[in-house]
Amino acid sequence: MSTERVAVCPGSFDPVTRGHEDIIRRSFRMADRVIVAVAYSATQVKQGMFTVDERVEMIRETFADDPRVEAMSFTGLLVDFAREQGASLIVRGLRAVSDFEYEFQMALMNRKLWDGMETVFMAPDLEHLYLSSSLVRQIASLGGDVTPFVPPAVLARLQAKFSKPAS
Ligand code: PNS
Repeated sequence: MSTERVAVCPGSFDPVTRGHEDIIRRSFRMADRVIVAVAYSATQVKQGMFTVDERVEMIRETFADDPRVEAMSFTGLLVDFAREQGASLIVRGLRAVSDFEYEFQMALMNRKLWDGMETVFMAPDLEHLYLSSSLVRQIASLGGDVTPFVPPAVLARLQAKFSKPAS
């Protein structure tokens, strides 16, 4: 039996932020390998800012320096995906009390769905407490500077998407 500790860090990652990056790198305090799992639904009407493939690609580029991080997309139940991948630990970042209810509900439900599934919540670096993908999308689309909030791979894509043509 393998003793490797595999964690899954699930989310929408539209796009991955410095806050996510911080939590993923902290996960190695508990895991030997981390699968960053981008959730998508085949019936999803709303596309989001980036396609699922682009989100996975940006995560891969962000963690290109660390072979212990793998980025994948998945559809269906997280517990099924985690079990298939040999991961029994879910890692989620918890920023504020407002996150708690939703996160607690998911953690309990995931364990109900598969008894082998545990969730751990990690506090992000103080610098990232206010950060979210939705704020990044909004600021970038309104022409604001998101340089401090996203990894370079994301910044490049946001700039390509929103750069103003030279007049
Ligand atoms: O970044 P998000 O949008 O807060 O992530 C939510 C996510 C992807 C972790 C959650 O929606 C999820 O796990 N989706 C997969 C479907 C599933 O397993 N649903 C039951 C959860 S109890």
